[in-house]
Amino acid sequence: MASTTTSSAAPTPTSDVRRHPTHRFAHLSDPHVTGDGSPVGGVVDARAQLARALEVLTSWNAGCDAWVISGDLSDDGSVASYTWLRDTVLDAAGSVGVPVVWATGNHDDNANFRVGVLGESADPGPVDSATDVNGVRVLVVDSNVPGTPAGTVSADSLAWLRDRLAEPAASGLGTMLVVHHSPLPPLQDAAWRWPLTNPDALADVVRGSDVRAVLSGHFHHSAFGTWAGVGAGIAPSLAYTQDVTVGRDLRGQFANTGFCLVELHDDVVTHTVVPLDRGKGVHRPIAADL
Ligand SMILES: [Fe+2]
Ligand SMILES: [Fe+2]
Repeated sequence: MASTTTSSAAPTPTSDVRRHPTHRFAHLSDPHVTGDGSPVGGVVDARAQLARALEVLTSWNAGCDAWVISGDLSDDGSVASYTWLRDTVLDAAGSVGVPVVWATGNHDDNANFRVGVLGESADPGPVDSATDVNGVRVLVVDSNVPGTPAGTVSADSLAWLRDRLAEPAASGLGTMLVVHHSPLPPLQDAAWRWPLTNPDALADVVRGSDVRAVLSGHFHHSAFGTWAGVGAGIAPSLAYTQDVTVGRDLRGQFANTGFCLVELHDDVVTHTVVPLDRGKGVHRPIAADL
């Protein structure tokens, strides 16, 4: 008589090749901190919001290779906002030993950013930078145009980027591109007032290069897509987000704030939204150890 066996045990994983990423980035955006600590829009304590994100990043059991902040660092562009940001973020980053990569956005004042965060002279020019993060090249290209919320990557910054992307990262591990105004089309029609005005010019530089992901903010809601053959992610704002339920119009709200976690594997890039809010528990906690 034939016998059959059954088991209620969980299936055994056959491969853990992608269980551990090679690199992990925290992608934060749009903290909009103010110089005097006054609430953004009279509603949001932006300093408390950033502090909450830093609390998560310095206490959880998923260590990062770097923290990337993709612009609109300040709400008012004041030197005081940048010195507070520098002291707060670098103190937290230092406690867990991670570098910080900064980008500026349309709310930022590049000269005051250089003074307050970098400790440099008050140069208002584009904030473009290259940082090696454990072999991954992180390139920041400025899309800030003083006097307008819309973004444009200048001819000089495009040339700067083209020069760097002419050769792949020496490690072979690829490049992450950071630009405040996402090259993805805005979801909400009202946001078309302030898009990136030259995504095709930027695409001409990026297409075919070793760029593996594009990290942006600006729209104040998370979104993901492909552009120039590359995956592009928009992190939700740390300060306030757009209420997408209203459809075509814009309605900023103090809800759904958070950041993204970007994980690199040999052949995969993932973007995960990390909301700052914690909800009521539904099932018993399940430990990570298998
Ligand atoms: Fe913003
Ligand atoms: Fe912005």
